[in-house]
Amino acid sequence: MTLAVCPGSFDPIHNGHIEIIARAAKIFSEGVIVAVAHNPQKTFRLPLEERVAMVQEVFSWLDGITVEPMGAGLLAEFARSRGAGAVVKGLRDDRDYLYEAPMATMNRNLAGVETVFLAGDPKHGHLSSSLIMEVASLGGDVSDYLPRSVHRHLLEQGLLGHG
Ligand code: PNS
Repeated sequence: MTLAVCPGSFDPIHNGHIEIIARAAKIFSEGVIVAVAHNPQKTFRLPLEERVAMVQEVFSWLDGITVEPMGAGLLAEFARSRGAGAVVKGLRDDRDYLYEAPMATMNRNLAGVETVFLAGDPKHGHLSSSLIMEVASLGGDVSDYLPRSVHRHLLEQGLLGHG
């Protein structure tokens, strides 16, 4: 099967993302490019280099997954430039679907790239980077939701609060 792109902000990457990307890598035998978004108009909690490095560390043990910064352009163009035939997105619920469906149609119209939706495991359905970071900044324990390397990085950066 074709090469796929798994795009996202990954600010930071969490266990819900990892589950989807690992499943995508089993489906797409030509591999998966994890595309880490960079958008000068958007404020990220973590700089691009740190987000890319964290994703790279997480997937260093899995074959078929490469990690790249996406730049500020269109996802559809990024996918086309890499020869990828599909974009993979995880869906937590119907709100995710309603948000993602117009972008899927737009990306198909722009570059003929199909979007494949994977239903996220319900055990990760409550996870988002923003919620995790809000809880973390207020001293809540988020270690169940993040890979150990990411948790350690956030700790080192002083991004885990003390309540
Ligand atoms: O993790 P996020 O923040 O939900 O990821 C959003 C992302 C990066 C996938 C989305 O913003 C995106 O596709 N950005 C690239 C710019 C683009 O192509 N915009 C038009 C979408 S049809």
